[in-house]
Amino acid sequence: MRIVLLGPPGAGKGTQAAILTDYYKVLHLATGDLLREEVAKASELGLKAKGYMEKGELAPDELVIDMVINKLNSPEAEKGFILDGFPRNVAQAEAFGKRLAEKSINLDNVIYLETSEDIIVKRLTGRRICRACGAVYHVVNIPPKVKGVCDKCGGELYQRKDDTIETIKNRLKVYNQQTAALIDYYKKEDKLFMVSGDVDTRELFTKLQEYFKKQNII
Ligand code: AP5
Repeated sequence: MRIVLLGPPGAGKGTQAAILTDYYKVLHLATGDLLREEVAKASELGLKAKGYMEKGELAPDELVIDMVINKLNSPEAEKGFILDGFPRNVAQAEAFGKRLAEKSINLDNVIYLETSEDIIVKRLTGRRICRACGAVYHVVNIPPKVKGVCDKCGGELYQRKDDTIETIKNRLKVYNQQTAALIDYYKKEDKLFMVSGDVDTRELFTKLQEYFKKQNII
């Protein structure tokens, strides 16, 4: 399984990638998570990316592309991968395509989660994440059993700094200006599968499972 999950911020890419990778036992590669880890470590890469992320802008391509290529070269990626948040523009898609061709690897599909803007805003403003294990909740849609506490590990739940209305609006603008072009890019490559991201997580997972089965993607 070699899949890209494409969609606007809050479409549910991370949530769905976590369910899919758990089920199919492939690598979940989320560039946003990798960048946030670097920021938390205050590494050179993290310091370079921090300002862009806080404003909802894209981090520079060269930082992100190298980071993804390194991960794809690791043994964890051999059984397959689900990319979440990458590629984010045509330059990243081209660099990624070139790397796959060098390794004689084919991308199976790009799953585009088509999601409406009012749903996105509600999802992102209500999102809470576990500081310890990274599990993702929503105050209304997917609430933890105890407010502010992770069901899985008891860790503290926090809100991402870029999940404020103002930054969400900028993230959506950046998505429309730079990332949405990938819909046509992958349509032309005959790799795009469009599915509604507006449905609940279980329904979406079932739809994707059925699609992968039909396509013989395992
Ligand atoms: P990133 O972390 O990738 O953020 P994003 O693309 O804005 O996507 P999100 O993580 O916000 O949303 P999601 O679609 O994963 O939604 P989720 O499943 O959590 O990037 C952050 C920043 O890093 C960027 O702004 C940029 O600066 C930088 N960056 C990252 N990648 C980069 C790249 N390649 N190049 C350059 N810069 C890069 O769900 C959201 C909420 O909704 C949750 O609360 C969840 O519980 C709930 N939910 C999810 N699905 C459903 C559902 N089906 N029904 C009901 N509720 C749901």
